[in-house]
Amino acid sequence: MSAFTMEWFLPLYVFLAGEFNFVFSLLLEDFPALGSNNVPRFISKDSSMKIALNYTRLQNHTVLFYKQDCEDLYVGGTDFVLRLNTSNSHIVERYNLSTTEPEECPEQSPCENVITVIEELNGRVYACGTNGYRPQCRTLVSAGENKSEDCDDGTGISPFEYSQNSISLTVDGDLYAAAPLESDGSSLQFRRKAGNRTNVWMYDNWTLEPTFISATCVKRKNDRDNEKIYVFFRELNSDPSHEADHWISRVARVCKVDEGGSKRFFQNMWTSFIKARLVCGFPEQSLYFNHLQDIYVLHSNWNNTRVYAIFTSRWNSTAVCIYTIGMIEDVFENSTFKDYDQEIPSPRPGTCVKNSRTLPLATVNVVKDHPEMSDWVPSVHRTAPFYVSSYNYTKIAVDQVRGADNKSYNVLLLATDSGKVHKVLEAGDEPLLISETRFFNPSAALSVKLDSKKKKLVVGFSDVIATVDLQSCQYGSSCEDCVLAQDPYCAWSESEKKCTAAAP
Ligand SMILES: *[C@@H]1O[C@H](CO)[C@@H](O)[C@H](O)[C@H]1NC(C)=O
Ligand SMILES: *[C@@H]1O[C@H](CO)[C@@H](O)[C@H](O)[C@H]1NC(C)=O
Ligand SMILES: *[C@@H]1O[C@H](CO)[C@@H](O)[C@H](O)[C@H]1NC(C)=O
Ligand SMILES: *[C@@H]1O[C@H](CO)[C@@H](O)[C@H](O)[C@H]1NC(C)=O
Ligand SMILES: *[C@@H]1O[C@H](CO)[C@@H](O)[C@H](O)[C@H]1NC(C)=O
Ligand SMILES: *[C@@H]1O[C@H](CO)[C@@H](O)[C@H](O)[C@H]1NC(C)=O
Ligand SMILES: *[C@@H]1O[C@H](CO)[C@@H](O)[C@H](O)[C@H]1NC(C)=O
Ligand SMILES: *[C@@H]1O[C@H](CO)[C@@H](O)[C@H](O)[C@H]1NC(C)=O
Ligand SMILES: *[C@@H]1O[C@H](CO)[C@@H](O)[C@H](O)[C@H]1NC(C)=O
Ligand SMILES: *[C@@H]1O[C@H](CO)[C@@H](O)[C@H](O)[C@H]1NC(C)=O
Repeated sequence: MSAFTMEWFLPLYVFLAGEFNFVFSLLLEDFPALGSNNVPRFISKDSSMKIALNYTRLQNHTVLFYKQDCEDLYVGGTDFVLRLNTSNSHIVERYNLSTTEPEECPEQSPCENVITVIEELNGRVYACGTNGYRPQCRTLVSAGENKSEDCDDGTGISPFEYSQNSISLTVDGDLYAAAPLESDGSSLQFRRKAGNRTNVWMYDNWTLEPTFISATCVKRKNDRDNEKIYVFFRELNSDPSHEADHWISRVARVCKVDEGGSKRFFQNMWTSFIKARLVCGFPEQSLYFNHLQDIYVLHSNWNNTRVYAIFTSRWNSTAVCIYTIGMIEDVFENSTFKDYDQEIPSPRPGTCVKNSRTLPLATVNVVKDHPEMSDWVPSVHRTAPFYVSSYNYTKIAVDQVRGADNKSYNVLLLATDSGKVHKVLEAGDEPLLISETRFFNPSAALSVKLDSKKKKLVVGFSDVIATVDLQSCQYGSSCEDCVLAQDPYCAWSESEKKCTAAAP
């Protein structure tokens, strides 16, 4: 048994106190079966999963949202938003959001309002949708409320069709979004679109046919003006060489306080935009996973905030790589700028300043013409991805779980394209595939949302919304089975004589 394995079994023993010796000898015998990280040790069918909602009509697109301090889940589909109590599958409220002025819908195209964005803005829930090719945003008004429903132009927030790319983010009452400005999907870029601060957008030359995956704001408690928004995307590789990969995955950064340039130069353009390549693969063999698929950000102290990313490759396996904001910042703060060999002006391009309109021309010019870092952002494990799998994972969430030993564990929840959810323990540097939950319908998850408080994963399919109980501990009826599962959500209860939720 390797030292690594010992280390990761030990915490679970502590809890078992008296039974230590017994379980220990058993582990030695059973160990080979646990070494594999590509075969789930436990497969649970349906039993840990509940249907929270059955649609009457198949949905092509769903968006899930939790409002702060509110336990209800908002579900956006075609022409509606539902507020759902996932504990009892009760629909608390139903908002009808059909297309406004359907007579103006273009012919030959579906005149429907597919909801693509739900965000909270100034205490109210705001839903945006395709609205028959005229994207629109509306505040949700409950039946009992005596308030008018505000309608705003949603261009640049919602796409024109649900299949077009879009992402959104709300920070301090400002709405940030990436969505095409043209109905053919072009003019797709990341902007600040609504709220108190000035609207700011990107320079066209900064990306090449991008697909935006996710954006997040990383808080700095004692340094609010230095808070930055990180945008994760993939784009066409501008390197025309034959061996070069078609796609390249990236992280970009803008300052929250960026109000754009002066009236004369770069007005309403990000003056702090810089980007770098995200590396996931085997750098020593020059073997990379280049196609970013999904992102989950596990927030912590700003520099320890962890970014979990799913990538796919040309040879059709998937990989999970992990980054920290500290390592990303190291590249942004210390790398040279690609194709720029002059002295780096001061303040350094990308620095957050109180008044971006007074930034020196030299600084903004580097941002404009050379926003790319020469250095690449390595993953935490540097020489290899954290986890490589032949499963086609499409969505990720990561939960932080307090085990029976009162230690904190990170558990990756990975949804496949065929109706499975895998629980993968981040056991030090090694992944450990704990269990697989299978849905009766083997289709791809359209969206997932983690409810870390209730320890539930909500999964949106085209026909149902399902919830997975992460604390469902069906690992057999013996203490050994329970411990061998190595599921930090679970622990053996001596008094109940069963494998049960570890959390108090
Ligand atoms: C989903 O897409 C199909 C094919 O485009 C369409 O027939 C169907 O009406 C769509 N469903 C909804 C709920 O919009
Ligand atoms: C949601 O359902 C649970 C279980 O029935 C109930 O205890 C809770 O009060 C409900 N929440 C709301 C906001 O109604
Ligand atoms: C709704 O508000 C308007 C003015 O804001 C008021 O005149 C009206 O009586 C209110 N209606 C109800 C049902 O409270
Ligand atoms: C945004 O501006 C409004 C009115 O100017 C103000 O009431 C609100 O507090 C501001 N919100 C934030 C988050 O600064
Ligand atoms: C974008 O960059 C190319 C060269 O990289 C340049 O020829 C073109 O003028 C730039 N476009 C704009 C709008 O500056
Ligand atoms: C990251 O943050 C922690 C706590 O704030 C600090 O102790 C540590 O030195 C920081 N690390 C780096 C690389 O800045
Ligand atoms: C930049 O490099 C210096 C020297 O290696 C290091 O001390 C510093 O922490 C780096 N900056 C960041 C943000 O990591
Ligand atoms: C890659 O995809 C092909 C065709 O879909 C399949 O036959 C092959 O088994 C896949 N390879 C792996 C490693 O999953
Ligand atoms: C568990 O750990 C947390 C944080 O490390 C600590 O605050 C708490 O007191 C611990 N609980 C027990 C029962 O030891
Ligand atoms: C993986 O799943 C996605 C989403 O369903 C699909 O578009 C893609 O073709 C799948 N890739 C492989 C290799 O099966």
